[in-house]
Formats: sequence, C-alpha cells, structure tokens
Amino acid sequence: MIQASNISLRFGKKALFEEVNIKFTEGNCYGIIGANGAGKSTFLKILSGELEPTTGEISLGPGERLSVLEQDHFKYDDQIVLDTVIAGNQKLYDIMKEKDAIYAKEDFSEEDGMRASELEAEFATMNGWEAEADAATLLNGLGIATEVHYKQMSELPDTDKVKVLLARALFGNPDILLLDEPTNHLDLDSIRWLEEFLIDFENTIIVVSHDRYFLNKVCTHTVDLDYGKMQIYAGNYDFWYESSQLMIKQMKEANKKKEEKIKELQEFIQRFSANASKSKQATSRKRALEKIELDTLRPSSRKYPYVDFKPDREIGNEVLTVTNLSKTIDGEKVLDNVSFTVGHDDKIAFVGSYGIAATTLFQILAGEMEPDEGDYKWGITTSNSYFPKDNTAYFDSNDTIVDWLMPFSPEKDATYVRGFLGRMLFKGDDGLKKVNVLSGGEKVRVMLSKMMMLGSNVLLMDEPTNHLDMESITSVNNGLIKFPGVVLFTSQDHQFIQTIANRIIEFTPNGMIDKVTTYDEYLDSDEMARKRQALS
Ligand SMILES: Nc1ncnc2c1ncn2[C@@H]1O[C@H](COP(=O)(O)OP(=O)(O)OP(=O)(O)O)[C@@H](O)[C@H]1O
Ligand SMILES: [Mg+2]
Repeated sequence: MIQASNISLRFGKKALFEEVNIKFTEGNCYGIIGANGAGKSTFLKILSGELEPTTGEISLGPGERLSVLEQDHFKYDDQIVLDTVIAGNQKLYDIMKEKDAIYAKEDFSEEDGMRASELEAEFATMNGWEAEADAATLLNGLGIATEVHYKQMSELPDTDKVKVLLARALFGNPDILLLDEPTNHLDLDSIRWLEEFLIDFENTIIVVSHDRYFLNKVCTHTVDLDYGKMQIYAGNYDFWYESSQLMIKQMKEANKKKEEKIKELQEFIQRFSANASKSKQATSRKRALEKIELDTLRPSSRKYPYVDFKPDREIGNEVLTVTNLSKTIDGEKVLDNVSFTVGHDDKIAFVGSYGIAATTLFQILAGEMEPDEGDYKWGITTSNSYFPKDNTAYFDSNDTIVDWLMPFSPEKDATYVRGFLGRMLFKGDDGLKKVNVLSGGEKVRVMLSKMMMLGSNVLLMDEPTNHLDMESITSVNNGLIKFPGVVLFTSQDHQFIQTIANRIIEFTPNGMIDKVTTYDEYLDSDEMARKRQALS
C-alpha cells in the first residue's frame, strides 16, 4: 500500500500538482496516463522519495519496501550487471560496499574492526550472503545468461539493459513496484514477456505508459492526470476512455437541461418583473436563477502539436547508396556487408527484433559513427537530419529551449523560435525552460522542432514514437505520411509503420530482407516468412 496525502508541487510559479490525495493498494496494477509534461514521471519521483513535494506526504504500509524501474536505460552504463541488480536494494548494497572498503584497507584499525562486525551482523540479517545468488537467479530467469552477469552495462543491447533494470527493480521482492514507461526501447517479444510478468506480480504496481495495448493488458485501474489532479477509474485504459467520454456526454446533457431552465426563468422574470402582482414570484425566480450553476466542461489538456516537415529543396533521383557496409560493436558483427539503394519516393521502415542493426546503420548514415568496412554515398540534392533513439547526450545542457534550437533556426531570432515552439505546444514562457528539466515527451517535441527547422529532404528517425503521448504520435504519423521527401525509420507502433512505409527492410543476425511492400502485406506474406525462417 502506498498513499499520497495532500500532495502539491510547484516549479517556480507553476503548480504541477494541487492537493492530490490517492491510495494504491495490494494486488492492483495502476496505469497512470496523461499528456506529455502532465507530471507523471514527477509524481513517481515524489512517490519514491526522490523528489520532495511542496506540501503533503507519502506513506507506505508498515515495513514495506518500494522499488523503481528507471526510465533512463543508460544510467548505469559504467556499472557491472550483477552490481546494478543488487543495488536495487540500496541499503544492502551500501553495506556491501562499506564492508568491502574496510577490508581493502591496509591498516585495519580497531575502530574498523568494530564497524566491520556491525556491518557483518546487519548484512547477515538482510540475507546478504544470498544476494549474489538471488540476483543471478533473477537475471537467468529473465534470459540474461550467466556469462553476461559480470559485463559492464554499456556492453549490453537495449533490450537486455531493460531486463537488468527490471531485475534490479524486482530484486528482494518489493512491496511496491514503480515503472516509468517500461515498454520504451523494448522489442515486441520483450513487451509480451513483461506483460505476463506484471499480470502475475502480486504486490502493488504503478506504471506510467502511453501504450494503450500494454495498459489494457496489465492494468486493473487507470489514473488520469490532468490539470494537476488525479482521478482513479476501476478499469483498464479502454474502460477509462469509455467512461470519460460518457461523463462528458452526461455533463453536456445536464448542462443543456440547465440552460433551458435558465432561459425559461429569464423569460418569466423579464415578462413579470414590472408587474406588481407577479413581482414576488419574479423575485423568487431570480433567486432560483442565481442558484443554477453550469458544470464547467474543461476539455482535456491533451493537445495535438502541429508537425509538418517541409523540405527546403526537392530531392533528386540519387538519394543514397549503401555499399558493403560492415560494423562490429563489442565483438558482435551487427552490420555484415549491408548494401541497398534508396529511391526518391522511399519511406523505409526497418523492422524486426534485431534493432541494434538499424540503430547502428542510422548512426553511421548520420555521420556519428564510422563503419569498419564499406561506404555510403548521399546524393548531392539530399540533406538529412537525424532523430536518435537515445537523446540523453543532446539534452545534457543548461541551455533554454530557445537557445538550444537557435543554431538550427533559419532565422536567428528568438521571437521566430518561440512562434515555432508554440505550435509544438510550448506556450508562453516555456521556451525559457532549460532543456535538461524537460519531460521525455517534451524532449522529443524539441528534437522534432529541430528537424522541422532544418528543412531536410531525408529524415532518419530511430523510434520517434517513444515517449510521445497519443496525440503527438498521431501528429508525427500524419506529418510523415504527408512529407514529400524520403524517410528511413524504426518504430514499434504497428499503425505508424503501416501508414507510412512503402518499403520494409528487416535485419536479422544472419542477413537482411528488403521488400517494396506495406507492413501488413509484409507480415502476411508466406514468401517473407520463409525468408525470415531461412535467416534465423
Ligand atoms: N526542475 C524543473 N523546473 C521546471 N520545470 C520542471 C522541472 N522538472 C520538470 N519540470 C516540468 O514539469 C513538467 C512535468 O514533467 P514530467 O517529466 O513529470 O512529465 P511527464 O508527465 O512524465 O511527461 P512525459 O509523458 O513526456 O514523460 C514538464 O513540463 C517539465 O518540463
Ligand atoms: Mg515521463
């Protein structure tokens, strides 16, 4: 059980939450939904104690422990896999580290000896001697082989990283599990695995996600965060959607009835207020009129940004030729002799569970990484811009959004940039926010703004739908359908791929399949299934 009482939070003048009261109980899985920037991640940070609210407090059931699956998959890159998992139980991990430091000393004082025995005792009560074995069991259960346990986190592919982070969150069977967008960067198989896992988990789960299918599958409750308030619905995402639509409808009907009544009363008052014999009645009706209050219908704060990529120049026939490209990363040959040519109407989706190949290819094509062998050639009429899968490094800066975007703006003028930001839902002073405090979805909106400003005719987009709310995904989706240039992209969103791509490339560890087709046809095709089989 975890309870938030009277939670308010302000950043400067802006209130993110106002007097939120909510209780989460055992056996339930709560999905927290809301627009990008609504405050979901911040709320999880308040629940976990990472962030102090302006008012109010958080309480857990007696003796209960909470753990968090972090959103940032790259955070522990400099740590060993097994340590990352054990550190999920921070107290135990601290004891281990302090103990090790004492034993590593050359001059071991009497004081050190006493401290060491204190630590040993505490370590034993926490079942510390089993920690490594427990962590290893958990990792193995998640399909992370034993030889990987002593590798550095940075050496792991994304899908394994998230499994390690999940093992970290689960380590020591927490009573409350907090997950912030767990499906980001996961391939479909892993998402399915996670769904089953969460359905079987018996304690309290609170999960933030923008993925409807996922939410529908795992959640028993839905918590809608809008206008700084939280409303809880006993049901999954679809249930929330239906009931919130129904509520709006009922409110509209009730308002309509009240409006009719108001009109009737007003007419009466008007007709009879000058009439002495009826004036008493008119006065009482005036009072009745004053009492009627219309319910304010606040439309949801969810909004559609205006996404429109306009190339500065038309693209010629020569777009891109990739010839015999190879690249080995951490001993694994992720690109092996890859060749293909891109035509000037191509919108290519790179699909399949071997995502690291496309990510590496995009990094090379964007000039951020050198291939080991082979080369690629962009046509002279082309200009490309790149949407990286991991944007952490790009936003590690104290710049404001306006300053950050200025180098890419065709007009070096703050008013112009702010106007541009308005259509991407950064209103008023938002442009003066520092980029390093932005929410996941807000960062993506800034990255998309950069790409729109650049006016390129080729877009390289590695998972542009990650982090975005439903409205923004729709806008990006439509923007790319409309885009007259070339797109090379990856996504886990079926509809997104189906509506944009006219060509599919699938990388497998043993080669690639390349076909001019829609995604649905690709998935349905027996011929493609045979090819995939042959390569697996
Ligand atoms: N230190 C800060 N100073 C000012 N504003 C902040 C700070 N930290 C966060 N914010 C703002 O608070 C809002 C909520 O951020 P949060 O990350 O909680 O959103 P979110 O609901 O998780 O969004 P997303 O769906 O994009 O992940 C954002 O507008 C963000 O820019
Ligand atoms: Mg967030």
